[in-house]
Amino acid sequence: MRMANKFGIVTAGASGMGRAGAVRFAAEGAAVAVIDIDEAKARETVRTITAAGGQAFALAGDLMDEDFARGIVHETKKRFGHLDFLWAHAGHPSVSRVEGLDLKEFDIAMNLNVRAVMASTIEAIPFMRERGGGSILYTSSTSGLFGSPFSPLYSVAKWGLIGLARSLAKRYGPENIRVNVVCPGTTDTPMLRVLVSRPDETATKGKDIDELIRVRGSGSPLGRLARPEEIANAALFLLSDEASFITGAALPVDGGKTA
Ligand SMILES: NC(=O)c1ccc[n+]([C@@H]2O[C@H](COP(=O)([O-])OP(=O)(O)OC[C@H]3O[C@@H](n4cnc5c(N)ncnc54)[C@H](O)[C@@H]3O)[C@@H](O)[C@H]2O)c1
Repeated sequence: MRMANKFGIVTAGASGMGRAGAVRFAAEGAAVAVIDIDEAKARETVRTITAAGGQAFALAGDLMDEDFARGIVHETKKRFGHLDFLWAHAGHPSVSRVEGLDLKEFDIAMNLNVRAVMASTIEAIPFMRERGGGSILYTSSTSGLFGSPFSPLYSVAKWGLIGLARSLAKRYGPENIRVNVVCPGTTDTPMLRVLVSRPDETATKGKDIDELIRVRGSGSPLGRLARPEEIANAALFLLSDEASFITGAALPVDGGKTA
C-alpha cells in the first residue's frame, strides 16, 4: 500500500481528478477528508471509498470562505488525529475577458485558486511539523506554465501557485515538509466544459462544445484528453513517500503539450 498510515485532505474531492485521487489514495491505504461545496457528491465519493473498505469523511463548504478553508485542516486533524498530506486541488476557471474586466472577477480568480490554498496551507504546516514532515500538493495547470490569450486571469493564479510552492519548498524543506505542484493538461472533467464555453470567450462563442473539447484534446502529442485517473496517479506519486526527494517541482501531466 503506497499511502498506508497516511491521513490527509483532498479539496474538490467530489468530482473529476479530486474524486479520482481521493478514491485512489484510500485504495492505497490513506484516510481521506473529502472537501467540496457539493455535499451530495462529496458524500458519494466517501460512500465509494468506504464501500471498498477505505476510510474517509466528507466536509461540505465553500473554500472561498476563509474560515472554512482553514477549518478543514482542524476538522481533519480532529477526526484522524494526524495530518500527513494536503492536496489543495480546487480551482476556478475564471473569466476570459481582459478589457472591461471588473476587478471583482480578478478577486474571485485569486480567491479560490490562491487565497483558499494559502489559508489551508497555513493551518496544515504546524500539524505536519508535529508529524515530523508532510506533503503538500497544489493543482496548477499548463496555463501556469505558458501564457494563453484565453485565460490571463487563470494563468496569473496558476503561475502564482507554482511560485508559492517553490518558495514553501525551500522554506519548509528543512522540516521535511515537501510542496509540489501538478500541472494537468486538458482533462476530461465537468470543469473542462465550463472552461471552453465561458460566455465571455468570443473565440469560442457559438461553437459546438464537444468539438471545442476534441480540438483542445488533440493539441497534445498524445492527441487526446487526460483521464482524471491519470492526474490522480501523478498526485499519488507526489504525495507519497515514493517522492521523498522531490520538492518544489511543477510536474506537467499534459500528454506532452508543454514539451
Ligand atoms: N479539467 C481540466 O482540463 C483542468 C486542467 C488543468 C487544471 N485543472 C484544475 O483542476 C482543478 C479541479 O478541476 P477538475 O477539472 O477536477 O474539476 P471538476 O469540475 O471535475 O471538479 C471541481 C470540483 O470543485 C468543487 N468546487 C468548485 N468551487 C468550489 C468551492 N468554492 N469550494 C469547494 N469546492 C468547490 C466543485 O463542486 C467540483 O466538485 C482546478 O484547480 C482546475 O483549475 C483542470
